Amino acid sequence: MPNVFAERTRRCRRRLRAVDADAAVLFPSTNLFYVSEFREHPGERHLLLFVPADGDPVFVVPDMYGEQIADESWVADVRTWSDGDDPLDLVSAVADDLDLRGGHLLVDDTMWALFTQDLRRALPEATFGLAGEVLEPLRMRKDESEIETLSRAGELADEVCVEIRKLGEDAIGMTERELAGEIETRLAEAGGEEPAFDTIVGSGPNGAKPHHGHGDRRIDYGDPVVLDFGAFVDGYPGDQTRTVVFAGTPPEEFDRVHRAVLDAQRAGVEAVEPGVTAESVDRAAREVIESYGYGEQFIHRTGHGVGLDVHEGPYIVSGNDRELEPGMVFSVEPGVYLSGEFGVRIEDLVVVTEDGRERLNDSPRTWRAL
Ligand code: GLY
Ligand code: MN
Ligand code: MN
Repeated sequence: MPNVFAERTRRCRRRLRAVDADAAVLFPSTNLFYVSEFREHPGERHLLLFVPADGDPVFVVPDMYGEQIADESWVADVRTWSDGDDPLDLVSAVADDLDLRGGHLLVDDTMWALFTQDLRRALPEATFGLAGEVLEPLRMRKDESEIETLSRAGELADEVCVEIRKLGEDAIGMTERELAGEIETRLAEAGGEEPAFDTIVGSGPNGAKPHHGHGDRRIDYGDPVVLDFGAFVDGYPGDQTRTVVFAGTPPEEFDRVHRAVLDAQRAGVEAVEPGVTAESVDRAAREVIESYGYGEQFIHRTGHGVGLDVHEGPYIVSGNDRELEPGMVFSVEPGVYLSGEFGVRIEDLVVVTEDGRERLNDSPRTWRAL
């Protein structure tokens, strides 16, 4: 029985033929994992997977990976080169075997320039495009098992968010870094593999920088604090945001800004259903924030797809007329950022269903103490 990775490869090959490409050439990345089940960080050695439009895929790998890939991937044709050899000799030989020398090759979107340059050198008659052209549309539609995994990652983030909010007054005086450490420890204790991205604890004016990360500022009474975090669960990330006040009275304008973002987030989520465009979801959220008079302070798109990568298609952004389909998973995360004062963002992941959408996060969205 073919496994899910072999089936994905078959679909990839069908799409390669549909766009008149001759092969995808992948390197260590989530695309490579998606089709081969082999997971590795990028490195300086040539480790490539050729997925021809016609024929079986072929790995070109350093000797030291031969046995590991045979164990971990369904791909049977694994050809190796040794440190000290010129790996381009093997690349050329494989391209000849697969009849790709003058072909149109779609290289992994995140392939290092080092390797794209080498491919151009080894195969001067080939033309090149990006593998995302065939893989992004496939990866955007999650299967049931992927949705179940993303849902568990959502529950994990929810669980830790509630625990952290219950710190209440105990969070006052902690630095953002200390609180981020506490969040990451609890994510790991609850079964997370590793943080999905640099945990964001944006207190007071730092919250007005959407991707602030965390620093040495101490959380004070009345500070709005943007908490944006998640962990990988079985290779899929969580990504949720709540903006909270641990103790004390926030700035006067804060409650209204929070209400604007909460209403916008609800409108964005409710706009999600099959057949509507990605940009219409952005518009639905943005119109609410504009109606509160904060349009200029909503300085990013409304969301992004989430899968093996924390940021992937579909992007929920003006100009993206892609129609939403069941199985797509993305964030709805409007925000308002008042420079030098505070920021507010509320973020949930949603999955498009046959007749609407479901949220994959469901922890309280209020800013008040739990
Ligand atoms: N945590 C980054 C983001 O929500 O896009
Ligand atoms: Mn996000
Ligand atoms: Mn986030």
